[in-house]
Amino acid sequence: MNDIWTRLKAHRAAQDTARIDDLFDADPARPRDFCVEADELVFDYSKTMIDADARGLLLELAQDARIEERREAMFTGERINETEGRAVLHTALRNLSGSVVVDGQDVMPGVRATHKRMSAFARDVRSGAYRGQGGKITDIVNIGIGGSDLGPFMATLALAPYHDGPRAHFVSNVDGADIADTLTGLNPETTLVIVASKTFTTIETMTNARTAREWMAKTVSAPAAQFAALSSAIDKTAAFGIDESRVFGFEDWVGGRYSMWGPIGLSLMIAVGPEDFDRFLAGGAAMDAHFRGAPLAENLPVLLALVGIWHHQVCGYPTRAVLPYDNRLIRLPAYLQQLEMESNGKRVAMDGSDLSTVSGPVVWGEPGTNGQHAFYQLIHQGTMPVPCEFILAARGHEDELAHHHILLAANCLAQSEALMRGRTLDEARALMQAKGLEGAELDRQARHRVFPGNRPSTTLLIPQLTPFALGQIVALYEHRVFVEGVILGINSFDQWGVELGKELALKVEPLLKGEAAPGHDPSTQHLAGLFRSMRG
Ligand code: F6P
Repeated sequence: MNDIWTRLKAHRAAQDTARIDDLFDADPARPRDFCVEADELVFDYSKTMIDADARGLLLELAQDARIEERREAMFTGERINETEGRAVLHTALRNLSGSVVVDGQDVMPGVRATHKRMSAFARDVRSGAYRGQGGKITDIVNIGIGGSDLGPFMATLALAPYHDGPRAHFVSNVDGADIADTLTGLNPETTLVIVASKTFTTIETMTNARTAREWMAKTVSAPAAQFAALSSAIDKTAAFGIDESRVFGFEDWVGGRYSMWGPIGLSLMIAVGPEDFDRFLAGGAAMDAHFRGAPLAENLPVLLALVGIWHHQVCGYPTRAVLPYDNRLIRLPAYLQQLEMESNGKRVAMDGSDLSTVSGPVVWGEPGTNGQHAFYQLIHQGTMPVPCEFILAARGHEDELAHHHILLAANCLAQSEALMRGRTLDEARALMQAKGLEGAELDRQARHRVFPGNRPSTTLLIPQLTPFALGQIVALYEHRVFVEGVILGINSFDQWGVELGKELALKVEPLLKGEAAPGHDPSTQHLAGLFRSMRG
């Protein structure tokens, strides 16, 4: 642990009983000075205990980690994913005019060609030029999991007001309930199945894809003709029987959880159309330009990351809640769980040594106002502070329901204010007195109504949840993960921690079928036995 960490922790300890609202009293310019803007997207981190000194130290931490140098290494195609020997170039998928050289070759002509093919196919599906056995495609079913599902699913829900293509469905879980419930009611003759898998080996996806093919084959004479594939493993898509005209490939320098900008975004592109998909890309590219060009102290992804480092590594808060006050961002927390936890949930540094600090936090959340009626009780009065990240659009899409939006926004701002200010014992006592309580009962009841306050939150304010804004938000969080990873010394682009469970699942399967399966622990054997006998 270097000297900057030590100074940060000492600074935090010295804050002792200081409160966030004191920082506003001491510095009238705080509301503006602890706000940063990028292309109309505003990030307010004033309601945290980060003061000017803490911010200075955090920025030192970023400089010490050589963020700018690492950032350039990423954008220019260096193999920064060292444990897999790969470049990290999802940014190339959203800046189509650029040129990026990997191994002496410009990768952009290939990216542009695939994007063009995707757009043409999306247009054909939407117009009816590409047809199923029964005519124009009415439904698309994206079969994928993790990064091949969460991004396009999240974005398709988020951009519902722009959705004018076929209905889009997303199947991910190997639980047969998922595909069964999805296919029920669909007409196979007008359905397009999109198998999304970078590796084209993921057991959940391949199992679901085969089930979908069998379902289609019951009615459709050439089922493979109503399949498309999104993958880096072109040989495997051919073996599955999908014609190469409907296969959209990408390179190994696109990580699964960073892949929705390219072929993995095809279902989104078909749903909203290539033009809005391109606006989504433009939003991502705008955030890239900001991240690459803005000084660290005014750099939105850098500051979002530093706030994260402050709350988790410095203050020791174990989780962070993402709270979009936008019902269409209902899958954003799930999307961010993969993006952040699969990226920065590591225990060793790039060089294989143990991390000298804790790794990334648990990320969770739910749109407001629903969460207010579920878990906010703990956020306000539980013993462990939960840093909250509010997201709010100034305008909704329902002009005729503007009063709903004002109420939604009022709730969002009220929550961050309540978290910061709280309610003192004296205020609670006054409330109880007004209700006619007195003596010990007044004290007892008042104590239950105290809010400690001083609970940190940030607010990301956007003009409206447009395709462009969504692109900005997703790229913002991607870069946040990158900056946090660089500061922690982590490789944010591998995911070895998902391997062991996958391997063991293959070995447990025979146990559940009653076949010989040596080497399992006693508890697993016992549970497998109970499972078998319950099934009869
Ligand atoms: O869960 C591990 C993982 O490899 C993710 O990183 C990835 O997004 C997901 O599985 C799906 O992988 P694929 O796209 O290769 O099917």
